[in-house]
Amino acid sequence: MRTNIVAGNWKMNKTASETDALLDELAAKLPDSSAEVMVAPVFVNLAEAVRRMDTSRIEVIAQNMHFADSGAFTGEVSADMLLDIGIGTVILGHSERRAYFGEDDQLLAKKVAQAVKKGLRSIFCFGEELQDRKAGKHFEVVASQLKKALFGLPVSAWGKIVLAYEPVWAIGTGETASPEQAQEMHAFIRKIVSDAYTDAVAQKVSILYGGSVKPENAAEIFSKPDVDGGLIGGASLKADDFVAIIRAIS
Ligand code: 13P
Repeated sequence: MRTNIVAGNWKMNKTASETDALLDELAAKLPDSSAEVMVAPVFVNLAEAVRRMDTSRIEVIAQNMHFADSGAFTGEVSADMLLDIGIGTVILGHSERRAYFGEDDQLLAKKVAQAVKKGLRSIFCFGEELQDRKAGKHFEVVASQLKKALFGLPVSAWGKIVLAYEPVWAIGTGETASPEQAQEMHAFIRKIVSDAYTDAVAQKVSILYGGSVKPENAAEIFSKPDVDGGLIGGASLKADDFVAIIRAIS
């Protein structure tokens, strides 16, 4: 059985007091669910968020991480710094990091390798842009992203990898991939993981969908056999919407 996951990527939203308030509301309203529930506040609020969620089953995760152990990398945060405050999972390769901060497949390979070395779980994001899909290149683009950043990892690392397919054209646009488009791509992803490793590895890896998931469309997307949950942006900033999305997977 694969783990179902609903993770909220808060991006650059919520001050410290707003973070506390949203966490408290989420903890109070959290429904029973077989899914793991995670939220990713901004770096400056992580330590307090971990403390605050100490008695909740909500896991606090990070949005990014540097590949080096430590050193002269102004503005960056290391794996050890995350581990030291109780963070066990980090989002890597988000399309906004790729588009606005120049993160490419080679850099992301280093980040994932560092997370594996340090024992952090990675939620690795990838997905095609609109022009790729229009040109019929979406499978090719996704295969290349996965191959370059992940397929150099040993089999043993895959217990710490979660995949998040986020078509760029569906992020923050209100335009979601159809459940059929999500299923088609997730099945393809599982197939190429199987080809690169083994079917056992492919069957065990959780593949999340991200891109305009809302309470209204979550249940149908999550009902697809190769969709193991979601990475939620905008709708994770409102407790009631996020809770409704968590309910949709149970
Ligand atoms: P939206 O849910 O706002 O489209 O964002 C998705 C996303 O980027 C999650 O990482």
